[in-house]
Amino acid sequence: MSYLSGKKILLGVTGGIAAYKTTYLVRLLVKAGATVKVVMTPASREFVTPLTLSTLSKNPVLSHFTNEEDENDTWNNHVDLGLWADYMIIAPVTANTMSKMVGGTIDNLLLAVYCSAKCPVFYAPAMDLDMYKHPSTQHNFKQLESYGNHMIPAGVGELASGLSGEGRMAEPEEIVSYVEDYISDKLPLKSKSALITAGPTYEPIDPVRFIGNHSSGKMGGALAMELAHLGAQVVLIMGPSHVITNHNNIDRQNVTTAQQMYDAVHKHIDSVDIAIFSAAVADYRPVNRADQKIKKSADTLSIELVKNPDILASVGAMKLRPFLVGFALETDNELDYAFAKAEKKNTDLLILNSLRDKGAGFKKDTNKITIIDRQKNVIPFDTKSKTEVAKDIINEIIKRTS
Ligand code: PMT
Repeated sequence: MSYLSGKKILLGVTGGIAAYKTTYLVRLLVKAGATVKVVMTPASREFVTPLTLSTLSKNPVLSHFTNEEDENDTWNNHVDLGLWADYMIIAPVTANTMSKMVGGTIDNLLLAVYCSAKCPVFYAPAMDLDMYKHPSTQHNFKQLESYGNHMIPAGVGELASGLSGEGRMAEPEEIVSYVEDYISDKLPLKSKSALITAGPTYEPIDPVRFIGNHSSGKMGGALAMELAHLGAQVVLIMGPSHVITNHNNIDRQNVTTAQQMYDAVHKHIDSVDIAIFSAAVADYRPVNRADQKIKKSADTLSIELVKNPDILASVGAMKLRPFLVGFALETDNELDYAFAKAEKKNTDLLILNSLRDKGAGFKKDTNKITIIDRQKNVIPFDTKSKTEVAKDIINEIIKRTS
């Protein structure tokens, strides 16, 4: 998943030959998960059609202050558009539009939106090499920088004039990674690393049966995705689960048993800043795993169990350890048991969830948690989606680690 996922992007297109590349740029932005609205200058419509860009962006393309085709002739509010966007990208930007951006000339909708936008503005110039080098253009770059706008520099190559030199608009992939890098640089967990355990563990009895539990991995998956979204590098140690966790920052390691989870945790634990143990680990495993399927014979069957290592407690006992977050899933005497677990396992935060609460626990898309910190403060939260719960937990971590 890209840092652009869920972001609202306003793409301004001006009248240069490089406008044809915006078709691909819109596709890349949409593929990255962004919502894209396109505003075109009247001149740019000669180079690429609004129909193409509206089809690719899945939104109407705007060029004028009013919708002429609309029988009510409705007003396109440039202020609303400027405020709607998380980021504005103007690509390509011609020397003409740039000079109007510098001087505050507003003679089309795109310039009105630019002047109203409160979000970060990126612009990708495209022009012939001598125009690019011209002192007025160079002066305008400096002016726009002083306004806080971000230039995505033009490349060197063949230009529409047939000449070769600097002035070729940055490729759509470069524009997308420039904006992604800008976003990721500002993320609160950019230089942090985290480890998460999630899902159930399965302890084999024979080749076809196991001891397991109902954990789906949704809570741990949501935590991994939120941490990755905030810039952290995440090692996700996941028991058997169908939950999808696609993000470039997530290194997912699938395990089956508690022992495998323990080994994977201790392989990485020394190199992370934050560790969150949301897995429902089987406390016991069969002493012996039968090589063949156990046949039905006697009326009763006893399976001898032995304790699994307590992974969270083993990390809590380390002298040097990351900021440590444990979970407690309870069915009764919730707060008493949770305080005891926080103490025994030496956690910095303990996340209590109770199966008595409707909308909390295994498999559901929601959870209801109470956070207990080292000072024994008890912070209750309402029932929320597991993504929102993950955000609440991470906020509490950020408050205590930055
Ligand atoms: O996966 P979902 O369907 O979304 O459900 C989420 C969840 C209910 C599993 C999750 O919110 C949760 O409560 N996880 C912890 C479940 C649990 O096993 O709690 P516990 O009270 O038994 O364990 C206490 C803590 O010790 C937990 O952090 C657990 O990961 C850890 N532990 C337990 C035993 C063990 N051998 N090793 C451990 O690390």
